Amino acid sequence: MCGIVGILGNRPVAGALVDALRRLEYRGYDSAGIATLDHGRLDRRRAEGKLVALEKRLDAEPLPGNVGIGHTRWATHGRPTESNAHPHATAKVAVVHNGIIENFRELRESLVAGGARFFSETDTEVVAHLVTREMAHGKSPVDAVAATLKQLRGAFALAFLFAGEDNLMIGARKGSPLAIGYGQGTAGKGEMYFGSDAIALAPFTDTISYLDDGDWAVLTRSSVQIFDEQDRPVERPVVKSSATAHMVDKGNHKHFMAKEIHEQPEVVGHTLAHYIDMIQEKVALPGELPFDWSKIKRLSISACGTAFYAGLVAKYWFERFAKLPVEIDIASEFRYRGAPLEAGDLAIFISQSGETADTLATLRYAREHKQHILSVVNVVTSTIARESDVVMPTLAGPEIGVASTKAFTCQLAVLACLALAAGRARGHLSEEDEQKLVHALIEVPRLMAQALTLEPEIEQLALDLAKVGDVLYLGRGTSYPLALEGALKLKEISYIHAEGYAAGELKHGPIALIDETMPVIVIAPYDRVFEKTVSNMQEVAARGGRIILVTDPKGAAEATIASTVTLTLPDMASTVTPLVYAIPVQLIAYHTAAAIGTDVDQPRNLAKSVTVE
Ligand code: M6R
Repeated sequence: MCGIVGILGNRPVAGALVDALRRLEYRGYDSAGIATLDHGRLDRRRAEGKLVALEKRLDAEPLPGNVGIGHTRWATHGRPTESNAHPHATAKVAVVHNGIIENFRELRESLVAGGARFFSETDTEVVAHLVTREMAHGKSPVDAVAATLKQLRGAFALAFLFAGEDNLMIGARKGSPLAIGYGQGTAGKGEMYFGSDAIALAPFTDTISYLDDGDWAVLTRSSVQIFDEQDRPVERPVVKSSATAHMVDKGNHKHFMAKEIHEQPEVVGHTLAHYIDMIQEKVALPGELPFDWSKIKRLSISACGTAFYAGLVAKYWFERFAKLPVEIDIASEFRYRGAPLEAGDLAIFISQSGETADTLATLRYAREHKQHILSVVNVVTSTIARESDVVMPTLAGPEIGVASTKAFTCQLAVLACLALAAGRARGHLSEEDEQKLVHALIEVPRLMAQALTLEPEIEQLALDLAKVGDVLYLGRGTSYPLALEGALKLKEISYIHAEGYAAGELKHGPIALIDETMPVIVIAPYDRVFEKTVSNMQEVAARGGRIILVTDPKGAAEATIASTVTLTLPDMASTVTPLVYAIPVQLIAYHTAAAIGTDVDQPRNLAKSVTVE
């Protein structure tokens, strides 16, 4: 995914565009660029690599103008070079784009046949040429954009500037989010903005309209006209955004990821408070559900990456507490395997961003198959949220680090409450049991704060891990998804090869990898499968493997295997271990990557949200 910003301002905008792009850099950071209009003339600066490269470029060659658009890119079509960086432009129009124009090849061929010259390998450049061609046929910029949008297939958000039009900016949304910001205060009065999200607009305004899918909008300093996909004028609500500029500060932390790990006691507490009646100690879901738990025969869960692992933990919970059969799929697989779905069943989608293309496509597939659609999302204005029958928000706040941390534990908090609600409604959980489990959930923020005190120990341990080439993670039961999550976290930010396995699978293959150079991180709270996991640890120890055991005081006392480093968490109910054990798992990855010196918040080749399939 890429980040878009547009400012129709009353003062020079280059600096403000770069500031906004800094807030959007988590969406992509292969290259960045801005275009402005100065006395009707379009000009742009672009640079390969992170935003600092663009800043340097602008220092050397400043860009005047009170109107501008900016972009930070995560490459889909074309390498991350300066010539592929946005904005793309002709003499008449400049455009920034998030998403994919699926039919760009055929469009490009027809434009080239008509004499257009292309300077990039991107799909985006066709948009600039199409608008230019429409304008050459005598259309106004507004009509040219309307005509162009009808020729584009795919998922995108776009923002345009036009030569000679100092009081005009046009934006469009189809599949990728775009918001309009209304200028405020002495400095911002009479200004208008476009942004990929409210965070980008936070320094300028908190008064925002989100475009619906298919909408496009024409902004001047004194007017906003929004049209739907059929070009009918429509109105979209003006809302107050709660995103503030400080949300994207690192505070006292070196990285966003560190800040976000440390925020977990607070945001998980906040999320739980949204779903639990703290006085009665029972689940109190916000709002009515549009389905009856007792009539659901099968639950399908789909998500990607870390959100998928949250779903995998939830499978154990739904099956245990609600006796509800669960199918869980990686979203990119689900709809292609043609899973038979019975109308009236429930499908749950989990996503931090709410924009992940694979998850969204699966949601649409489930809708076609008449499932009730429930989403657990962090960005409540996202497409996944909008297309769901019911949204259960995680209240994690903006997650900027590419590696998901606080969103994961907040997802677990919501899913645990849902599983308990299902258990009660289906008659498999007594009031007393619910109370016990809810009580355990209420203790999670405190337990997380205690888990964070392991940080100095983990920092020390990470110095050794930073020197290895491979790491194995093992876990059983709900610790198995956590092993997968640990391995994902480590590889994505430290670039160390890591694998997560169900501990019982060790002997069926991965044991061949064990030697004295291989650290094996075992996640094993003292629960009903602990003894079994200890046997697997013995198998590792017998082959010289180095064990790092994450457990509790009872587990530490029982597993007396030589050469084991033990990280001891407090005692807790086994249901909540995935939430609390996530903290050492995240800290191990974070400190290992920090020791290596990788770009923790913006690891190579990744993007915060992947809006392409
Ligand atoms: O925004 P989503 O939760 O839908 O994103 C899903 C995955 O792309 C995401 O969890 C990814 O795996 C993270 N980089 C993991 O840290």
